[in-house]
Amino acid sequence: MEMGEIVIQNVNQVYHNVNQGDFNALSDINLHLCKGESLAIEGESGSGKSTLARLLIGIEKPTSGKILLDGEDITCWNYRTWKQHRKKIQAVFQDSSGTLNPARSAYANVEEALVNLTDKKRAERKNIF
Ligand SMILES: Nc1ncnc2c1ncn2[C@@H]1O[C@H](COP(=O)(O)OP(=O)(O)O)[C@@H](O)[C@H]1O
Ligand SMILES: [Mg+2]
Repeated sequence: MEMGEIVIQNVNQVYHNVNQGDFNALSDINLHLCKGESLAIEGESGSGKSTLARLLIGIEKPTSGKILLDGEDITCWNYRTWKQHRKKIQAVFQDSSGTLNPARSAYANVEEALVNLTDKKRAERKNIF
């Protein structure tokens, strides 16, 4: 499952902080990325890089705006729809130690990618290792 293009249209992300009021983490973000292109987003700490990444992989939904993967607006996808499209877009987290779940076995941690990204049954997954 390959992805052709990412389009971000007028995306805003506002966080409601109880004591400090609303905070605009992202204001009117627009971006068009085609297959084969690479994009580095740089900016000072707190400028919204991780927020944009979280929106792109569906961990959070934007306050407003659209995010289109191959023309489909992911901002209205539910868990099930995301699961069907998860192969299209994923994150590689910077903090490798935080990527593994210490409450689960080493096998369960490694198996998770196969559970989420393939149709392999439990026995088939076990055969791989
Ligand atoms: N869940 C949240 N609630 C309130 N404020 C948040 C939340 N997530 C991020 N922020 C704020 O949004 C801003 C952008 O954060 P972030 O995207 O992590 O920036 P960067 O990755 O560029 O360092 C920061 O000021 C951060 O404190
Ligand atoms: Mg960050």
